[in-house]
Amino acid sequence: MNDADDTGSARANGWRRGRRGAERWPGGTAPDGVPLIELQAIHKWFGPLHVLQGIDLVCERGDVVAIIGPSGSGKSTLLRCMNLLELPASGTVLFKGREISDVRVNLNHVRAHIGIVFQAYNLFPHRTALDNITLALRQVLKLSAAEARERALTGLRHVGLSDKVDAYPGRMSGGQQQRVAIARALAMQPDVILFDEVTSALDPELVGEVLEVMRALARENRTMVVVTHEMSFAREVASRLVFMDEGAVIEEGDPRTLLSNPKSERLKRFLADVL
Ligand SMILES: Nc1ncnc2c1ncn2[C@@H]1O[C@H](COP(=O)(O)OP(=O)(O)OP(=O)(O)O)[C@@H](O)[C@H]1O
Ligand SMILES: [Mg+2]
Repeated sequence: MNDADDTGSARANGWRRGRRGAERWPGGTAPDGVPLIELQAIHKWFGPLHVLQGIDLVCERGDVVAIIGPSGSGKSTLLRCMNLLELPASGTVLFKGREISDVRVNLNHVRAHIGIVFQAYNLFPHRTALDNITLALRQVLKLSAAEARERALTGLRHVGLSDKVDAYPGRMSGGQQQRVAIARALAMQPDVILFDEVTSALDPELVGEVLEVMRALARENRTMVVVTHEMSFAREVASRLVFMDEGAVIEEGDPRTLLSNPKSERLKRFLADVL
């Protein structure tokens, strides 16, 4: 985007230019018609391994995008490129229409707006559920202790864990710990949350409670990108399904259509293996 474009609606929506032309983080919403996240021709290599081979992907506000595909197909790497935990070798990551894969963008700001929840919940064992959540609110968002506490309590209520405020992770089930991790992401009030196989490490009987929290978030119209092996979740909850194989998007579209009527041999084979 050139400088002439820069003074128009995008700036009116809260985008500002900082010192030396560096992009400051936007306060407002995206200009009309601009996707929340857009990936354009993303490539990523790990050494000789071409892990992402030109990925284009659009996530609109309110979308629940489910990403499925075989192990090693690049799902996690793609998700991590969305919030720049991995830097693409080439291609563009746009957030609200602005390039964030630009070296001048402050990565802490990116990650405050694009939350992520991992398979391993990564809670601090020596901190209570509440403190695990308030930590980033205090350090990254610079909230006061009272504000952080209020937001953390709201987050815990949201995931049905009001009774675990003062519990340490070691005294919680895996499902409860994962719900704390989701509450931690929610408390940042991000525009979108990325979920990377958040139920895969859980005992089968604990998967349901975490999926139920994610279903509730989808019903609230939250924007989510979900890498998952849970095909029924993808079918029922996702607004769009993306099937990846060998670093490329092979098929994408309506989840029910894709799952009941796969076109490519690769998706047919994958579904035959997992279903
Ligand atoms: N940090 C890394 N260094 C080197 N290779 C990596 C790294 N991270 C991932 N890879 C490789 O990149 C490829 C894609 O990995 P990725 O984790 O994105 O796949 P995935 O689709 O998420 O797989 P899974 O379903 O098993 O989680 C794999 O071959 C993996 O071994
Ligand atoms: Mg993965």
